[in-house]
Amino acid sequence: MKVMVVGGGGREHAIIKSLKKSSEITKLYALPGNGGIAHDAECVNIGAKDLDGIVNFALENNIDYAVVAPDDPLVLGACDRLREKGIPCFGPSKAAAQIEGSKVFSKNLMNKYGIPTAKAECFYDADKALEYVSSCPIPTVIKADGLALGKGVVIAETREEAVEAVKSMMLDNRFGESGKNIIVEEFLTGPEVSVLSFTDGKTVVPMISSMDHKRAKDNDEGLNTGGMGTVAPNPYYTPEMADRCMKEIFLPTIDAMNKEGCPFTGCLYFGLMLTPVGPKVIEYNCRFGDPETQVVLPLLESDLFTVMQAVSNGTLENCEVKFSQKHACCVIEASEGYPEKYASGFEIVQNGEIDGEVYYAGAKIKDGVLVTAGGRVLGVTCVADTLGEAIEKSYAATQKIGFENAYFRKDIGARAMKAKV
Ligand code: AMP
Ligand code: GLY
Repeated sequence: MKVMVVGGGGREHAIIKSLKKSSEITKLYALPGNGGIAHDAECVNIGAKDLDGIVNFALENNIDYAVVAPDDPLVLGACDRLREKGIPCFGPSKAAAQIEGSKVFSKNLMNKYGIPTAKAECFYDADKALEYVSSCPIPTVIKADGLALGKGVVIAETREEAVEAVKSMMLDNRFGESGKNIIVEEFLTGPEVSVLSFTDGKTVVPMISSMDHKRAKDNDEGLNTGGMGTVAPNPYYTPEMADRCMKEIFLPTIDAMNKEGCPFTGCLYFGLMLTPVGPKVIEYNCRFGDPETQVVLPLLESDLFTVMQAVSNGTLENCEVKFSQKHACCVIEASEGYPEKYASGFEIVQNGEIDGEVYYAGAKIKDGVLVTAGGRVLGVTCVADTLGEAIEKSYAATQKIGFENAYFRKDIGARAMKAKV
């Protein structure tokens, strides 16, 4: 079978490496992929948001199955367009992708169906939002309604910061259309857990839990990034907590989407906070997380392609989804300066074998050499029997691959190691 994966980051590389293990797949394409992915799939220079290009490529090349990985094409309706042409694909419809594409939609959904989440107010008008933040409890959390590259959330520690955030989103259009509407929500505390799940709209199968490290600097300081590293499983997510989340959050969400007439199929990501009064939803993503995928898929023992087909065929109930009992750690090597200004174009050099996987995100081939081409350049994932060993192996691997201005956090997994649950 000929399979194409839409997207070009570390997550897509992890999906491609996992799909490569399937004996059913004879040819893999990445649209657009990147220079590092080129080793594992044929990269085609079609952007992930170019829906016409994606559909035409699939038709012209007799693609048998498509995996749409990033948020943008899903929210734009890439899967609907492909299905209209008879191409089976993994990913939600445009209507279902609203669960990530609009925070107002997801907040209303959770409130309507009693799914635990932070208390929030939605605003469509700057004056009303400014009036509200002039007296709401502080700290407070301000979120742009639409997609904003993971940067549309401001935790305001002071009232001034809250006012500033509302103004920049609603009046200065910092996130364009995405910030036209906003939500202002209660500040929650507790460990965060990411749970990616497979769902065909009837059955939901959570994958192994994971923990992201979103801030740029050690000790969770510095700016928010797309994610500087992950570990799996997440020690805070006990079997009791998993049962509770299934009953209180996962099944009610699938049910709610069905009742709203937009059944969700694909990978539904639950961003959870385990607060003192129980688990609450911080965010939904309509796709695999990045860099969560880079620790979750290396622990998947079942054939990813078989599972994906069960999801898109509606037969997930009868499909075995098995994970290893091991632990994984992914350390992201970024360009010094990320998520702000950084330099690119440095050669990526590897010395010696790595006992793990390297997933490329911001890399391209220039004059036959693999060079850096983005903020997050690559991630190294190692798997071991214990979390401590996985962390040690990943950091040892960072000594074997790098580039001139490489920067990475030194404490990925440290919080998980200290977890007392
Ligand atoms: P999001 O992009 O929605 O995942 O938010 C980015 C980060 O902001 C999350 O990973 C949390 O650490 C934090 N955050 C979001 N919402 C809240 C909240 N209501 N209370 C506390 N922290 C939050
Ligand atoms: N790691 C969080 C995300 O994929 O949005």
